[in-house]
Amino acid sequence: DAPQTIFSGIQPTGIAHLGNYLGALSAWGRLCARSPPSTRLIFSIVDLHALTVPPPADLLREYKRQCAAMIIASGVDPKKCVLYVQSAVPAHAELCWILTCMAEFGYLSRMTQWKSKLNIADDASTNNREAQKNLKLGLFAYPVLQAADILLYQTNLVPVGDDQVQHLELTRHIADRFNARHKVDVFRIPEVLLTPTPRIMSLKNPTKKMSKSDPTPATRIMISDTTDQIAKKIRGAVTDSITGITYEPVSRPGVANLIDIVAGILEQPQADVAEQYASMTHGEFKAAVTDVVCAEMAPVRRRFEELSADPEYIDLVLKKGAEKASEIAQITLDEVKKTIGL
Ligand code: ADP
Ligand code: NA
Repeated sequence: DAPQTIFSGIQPTGIAHLGNYLGALSAWGRLCARSPPSTRLIFSIVDLHALTVPPPADLLREYKRQCAAMIIASGVDPKKCVLYVQSAVPAHAELCWILTCMAEFGYLSRMTQWKSKLNIADDASTNNREAQKNLKLGLFAYPVLQAADILLYQTNLVPVGDDQVQHLELTRHIADRFNARHKVDVFRIPEVLLTPTPRIMSLKNPTKKMSKSDPTPATRIMISDTTDQIAKKIRGAVTDSITGITYEPVSRPGVANLIDIVAGILEQPQADVAEQYASMTHGEFKAAVTDVVCAEMAPVRRRFEELSADPEYIDLVLKKGAEKASEIAQITLDEVKKTIGL
């Protein structure tokens, strides 16, 4: 097989939760551990994307290092990949503008994430119409920046959750249009690598996804949580009053979510996990889930704390990563500029 390039990004927006860990960070760690050495792995801390909901400057600076520490603590080996901060590679912003001049307004308007932002703001009241007018251009154009991120590295595979599949389709569309219009082969057309773990849901409302933006901390397990905090949150998880443990996501979402968490950590089918726990009481089941989560997360938390105490090491990793990323990205950007006459 020809060598593959795999690209993925994460926004530096604060401490990751178990959903981020299972859906992204640990998946990156596994890619590092299991890919053949010829695979080029590129992981980007996408601070330009974070500007669409801008945090205070000092916080954003802190979040970037923190994000790098969490990525490495989750098993990503900086020696086996390129780990860097997006804004340290100016080619992202430069290619983004070029692609913005080709991306159709109509196509971007159909993105469901944008439409949901619009709908929040779209209703008859004057206040909401004002809110709609205040939506930022960056929020609308952000899938184009995503396209630039991916295309700069001649990416074959992009590990994403199902909510990002539509944006990846846009990336493919832009790449294909550029190549066709200029009769060149400048961009490789990337493919989706769907994240194997299902969405991890809120511990308090298992029909909503576990999210950083949920105001209730008890809804999520954080990478920084101690064993006691994890145990308390899982004890408090909403389940049901049905006897026995079965995997039925529709009728028993709370129990199914805890099974998904165990299945994701142990990389076992949900049915096998459910069978192991079948005859347990809810209390025994939650204790067993706690053991699995703590065994996985305790070393991650320890490593995260060590790395957080060593910002010089983090900065060095990110500096080397940015140099390598720039080298690769510049080759594509030069080709693009030559093609369009810049
Ligand atoms: P959040 O919604 O908590 O702000 P992000 O949107 O920053 O999370 O997502 C960062 C990464 O984590 C993405 O790859 C996303 O698919 C993944 N992710 C976020 N929430 C979950 C979840 N509840 N379950 C699985 N993966 C998730
Ligand atoms: Na989000």
